[in-house]
Amino acid sequence: MANVFAKRQIVITKGKGALLWDIKSKEYVDCMGAYGVALLGHCHPRVVAAIHAQVEQLISCHASLYNDKRSEFLQKLIAITPEGLNKAFLSNSGAESVECAIKLARKYTGKPEIIAMMGAFHGKTMGALSATWDKKYRESFMPLVPEIKHVPPDNLEKVREAITEKTAAILLEPIRGEGGIRMPPEGYLKGLRQLCDEKGVLLIFDEVQTSFGRTGKLFGCENWGVTPDVMCLAKPFAGGLPIGITVAKENIMSAFKLGEHSTTFSGSPLVCAAGCAAIDSLVSENLTEKAAKTGKYFKDQLEALQAKHKIIKEVRGLGLMLGVELRFDVFNIIVKCAERGVLILDSGRNVLRFLPPLVITQAQIDKAIAVLDAVLEEEENARASQSGTTAN
Ligand SMILES: Cc1ncc(COP(=O)(O)O)c(C=O)c1O
Repeated sequence: MANVFAKRQIVITKGKGALLWDIKSKEYVDCMGAYGVALLGHCHPRVVAAIHAQVEQLISCHASLYNDKRSEFLQKLIAITPEGLNKAFLSNSGAESVECAIKLARKYTGKPEIIAMMGAFHGKTMGALSATWDKKYRESFMPLVPEIKHVPPDNLEKVREAITEKTAAILLEPIRGEGGIRMPPEGYLKGLRQLCDEKGVLLIFDEVQTSFGRTGKLFGCENWGVTPDVMCLAKPFAGGLPIGITVAKENIMSAFKLGEHSTTFSGSPLVCAAGCAAIDSLVSENLTEKAAKTGKYFKDQLEALQAKHKIIKEVRGLGLMLGVELRFDVFNIIVKCAERGVLILDSGRNVLRFLPPLVITQAQIDKAIAVLDAVLEEEENARASQSGTTAN
C-alpha cells in the first residue's frame, strides 16, 4: 500500500460494538470509530445479516438499471434527510460527495466561485482538496481547481465581503472535524442561510463527519435549525461499506443532465442493502437520542479531567463528536493510550478527537477516561520534573 497513512503499530483483526481486538487478542475501546465510519459499532448484527442476504442475491448493478435495494435505500434516506433535501446522488466516499456538490453548484448557478473556510477539511481529491485548507495537503499539488477561495471561519462579515457576482456557493462543515472540533458561534449558520438567500448563493453543508446521529441530532445542521441547499454525506451511511451521498433540493439536483455526473459503483445493491440496515438500526435503536445522552456523559467526564489537569486547555463538541485541546502536541498521549487499550484520534497537532460508535457503553467510556487520566498525569509529572516544578 502507498506510504500515505501515519501507521500505528497495531494489527486489528476483529471488532464488535465499540470494541476492537488485535492479532494478539488485546482489547481496545475504540474512540476512533474508523475515522467516524463505525457509528453503529463494528459488525452490527443487522448490517452483517443484510450483507449476508444481499451477497447471495446481487452484488453489483449499474445505476442505468433500476434495483430494488437501491430504491429502498433512497426511500429510507430521503425519509430522514431534512425537509426539502429529497434528491440524492450516490458515490463511494466523502471526497466524492463534495466533488459532486461543487460541480452541482457550478452547474445550477452557472457561476464558478466556491467560498470555503480556512481550517476546513473536505477530502483529498482535486476538487475537494481545493476546498480543504491545510497547506500540508495542498502544497505539492498545485495548481488546484480555480475559483475556490477561503475566508476566515465563523465570521459572517468576511463571507459577505467575499461574495461576488461570480459566487455559486458557500461550502462548510457545521462543526469543523479535522480542524479541531470547532463549534460554530451562536447565530452564525442561521446568518449564513440568510446571507445565501439574500445573495442567491447556494449553501452547502459538508456533513460527512457530523451526520447520522453523531451530534445528538440526525444531521449536525439540525442543532441550529438551518437547512442547506446541498448536503454531503458519507462515512457511516452504509454500516461500514464505502459510500458517498450528495443530497440536494430537487430543482437543484435536476440541473445535472444525462451523463454530466456519474460513477460506476453508484448505488451498488450490496452497499445499499447495508445502508438500509444501517438506517433502520439508527432509527429503531434510537441511537441519535442515545448519542446525545452518552455524549453528555462523555463530555462531563472530559470536563472533570480538565478541572484536574492543567495541560487540558479546552473541551469542545456535541454528542459523540468531542475534542480535547491540550497545551502541547497530542502524539505521545495517543500512543500511550493505545498501549493501554484505548484508541483515540488526533485533530490537528494539539487536539485529541473522540469519534466513538454511538453504541459505546458507560463502562467503556469510564475505561477510556481512566486511561486518559493516568496518561495525562504521567505526562504532567514528566513535564514538571523536566522543568523542576510540581505538576499541580
Ligand atoms: C468533513 C469531511 N468531508 C470530507 C471528508 C472526506 O471523506 P473521504 O475520506 O471518505 O473521502 C472527510 C473525511 O474525514 C471529512 O471529515
